[in-house]
Amino acid sequence: MHCKKPAPLSVWRPLNLDRFLLGAPHYPEHVDESCWRRDAERMLAAGVNTVRMGEFAWHIFEPYEGKFDFDLFDRAIEVLGAVGIDTIMCTPTATPPRWLTVNYPEVLRVDVNGHRASHGSRQHADTTSPVFRAHSRRITRAMAEHYNNNPRVIGWQTDNELNTTVSESFAPSTRLEFQKFLQHKYGAIGALNFAWGGHFWATAYDDFSQIDLPRPLMPSYPSPGQVQDYHRFLAAATAAFQHDQVEILRAANPDWFVFHNLGQLADIDFRGQFGQDLDFIGFDIYPMLYDEMRRTGGHAATQALHLDICRAYSGNYIVPEQASGFGSQPGFSTMTPEPGEMRRMAMTSVARGADGIMFFRWRPAHFGAEIYWMGVIDHDDVPRRRYDEASRFFHDIAAIKNQILGTVVRMDIGIAGADFDNQEAHKTYAMGLPSPLDDATLLHRYCYRNGIACGFIHPEDDLSRLKALYVPHWVMWKQEWNAAVEAFVRSGGTLILSALTGTRDENNHIVREQAPGRDLSALSGVKVAEFGRLVPQGGAGLFPLFRQAATGAHVPPSPLPASSAERKYHFTFGNRQFEAAHLYELLEVAPDTEVLGAWSSRFCAGQPAITSRQLGKGRVVYVGTYLTHELAEAIAEGVLTRAGVAPLLPELPDGVEVSIREAEDRQLMFVQNTTEVPVAVPGVPQGLDLLTGRPTAGPMQLEAYGSAVILLS
Ligand code: GAL
Repeated sequence: MHCKKPAPLSVWRPLNLDRFLLGAPHYPEHVDESCWRRDAERMLAAGVNTVRMGEFAWHIFEPYEGKFDFDLFDRAIEVLGAVGIDTIMCTPTATPPRWLTVNYPEVLRVDVNGHRASHGSRQHADTTSPVFRAHSRRITRAMAEHYNNNPRVIGWQTDNELNTTVSESFAPSTRLEFQKFLQHKYGAIGALNFAWGGHFWATAYDDFSQIDLPRPLMPSYPSPGQVQDYHRFLAAATAAFQHDQVEILRAANPDWFVFHNLGQLADIDFRGQFGQDLDFIGFDIYPMLYDEMRRTGGHAATQALHLDICRAYSGNYIVPEQASGFGSQPGFSTMTPEPGEMRRMAMTSVARGADGIMFFRWRPAHFGAEIYWMGVIDHDDVPRRRYDEASRFFHDIAAIKNQILGTVVRMDIGIAGADFDNQEAHKTYAMGLPSPLDDATLLHRYCYRNGIACGFIHPEDDLSRLKALYVPHWVMWKQEWNAAVEAFVRSGGTLILSALTGTRDENNHIVREQAPGRDLSALSGVKVAEFGRLVPQGGAGLFPLFRQAATGAHVPPSPLPASSAERKYHFTFGNRQFEAAHLYELLEVAPDTEVLGAWSSRFCAGQPAITSRQLGKGRVVYVGTYLTHELAEAIAEGVLTRAGVAPLLPELPDGVEVSIREAEDRQLMFVQNTTEVPVAVPGVPQGLDLLTGRPTAGPMQLEAYGSAVILLS
């Protein structure tokens, strides 16, 4: 297999492999060796070309300190290799063995209350610990040296879903590492005191050695500067932990590709060193797990949202774990994919940028904390509907892979995403406001429902392929992005800025200029004269002691006074009236700037709320509030239509999703039925459905959970 040097991180980046990876995570250590050959044959018949293994097997690779034993995995790799199936190996650092945690108990993670993790599950070791890092380098080196001449080992996954179980650590060694990080960052303690605002609540320090890890509400709120730096530190430590491994793997065999499978993006700054070290991103997809389904419009919409978010970090990706069936751990369970749905969910991953899919997992475990997490084969060793679906999917993709590889997902609307500092800055001082992602989800959902090509993109990426860019409340807007967004607008793009953008600097200090700052004001023609929350948030429960002290007894919080509960704020936009949510801004508007919407109630009445300024061939829209479903729809129908954004299909039936993957010489339209009943999709453009070989034009019938991949003519 050929693996090119990866291009720089970009949402427009295809994978650097010439193979579409098709397969499953596989755990030969859970399966009787007498089954291995038949497993390999069944995999081959299903169309598997690659398996992933080893991520939880450190205790087998190194049964006691310094004694390595790779026999079991060597045999497993060989049996699969004999039928032509390759292996992706994993560094096994998500589960250090018991001898290690007995001999080096200081590697165990410590939680916010100071309790050390016990041995007996996973992700129990602390990636910020220098002692653990030394062991991680040791096992990685031993594995890299052992496998560097094995032609069947084609690439590596680092660890497994770093930071997914827990990302924070409060160990004494973490505190020391945090202090070192700060010393390196600030050099002198005075610089740190300035950044964190040391004169506020006497949070100044004489020396780096005095600094503690920030603990929420112990007893009150730490400085946003301290919290932001703690999360920057955790991200840097996670990247450094992975970097150790990547360096060793690349030195051992430069032909290997290296990726990481992300679960949640907690304290991972993928656009920083973490992502730059890798060939591509791996993103584990369990759509039926998502508990925010109702908020985001069902699990299909949520899957699309997650994939689009993840693509913004690194472009096309692989899915090293794509849900196959029902899943559970003792404390939770997912829904169960219905017949056809496993294939449909995998097709959605491809439609939105996957260049590799592995169904989790080949076989289910008979023991351990995931006994009811199903795989492709059933517990009784019988391949049933999930095997048939995996097989159909693998053969479908294998037949069209040459058309897919090299294409990237089209986006007409970009939502600013993938920025670690802005994501964290919101959390340091959230005031109960929706996060940038929560807010953007409303726009994404509208686009998903209406077949509009929408995704996420970082402002440093190539914006020229977009028609519009929405910036969801990025408080840490950086000066260096101004030139790129201005060029985007001048050449015809529509930039939509929203409330609170640009109000803080990188230390979380409020900027001293009138919001949204000199450059964004010049671009948008807007200055924020006043802002405020529209509903009080959380305060009633915060100071119970005050009430107790005043009355001598505990008094339950009183309900909001009627006048406050009744306060509603409205604005007009287009010719409709909207109820505002979360926050208002009153805008001062430059003479060359048009007012598209104005506040219409209470003291705000008559003041501008939404504006638009023509600049070159494009325009800058400023929205002085937060999105609601209704406002997202109105912006899409007003502002975005004017920006030339049109749905990919003229009429999208409920439950049907559409996206396009394209290269210079071809466009592939993916249409998927996410429902359990057949559906007729009208207005499909002329082309060829690569899955059926039938020409398309006009109405098209999709079976329940059916997919079409249309090569447009
Ligand atoms: C993933 C994890 C796997 C497995 C799977 C199903 O998050 O990487 O190891 O646990 O979930 O629970």
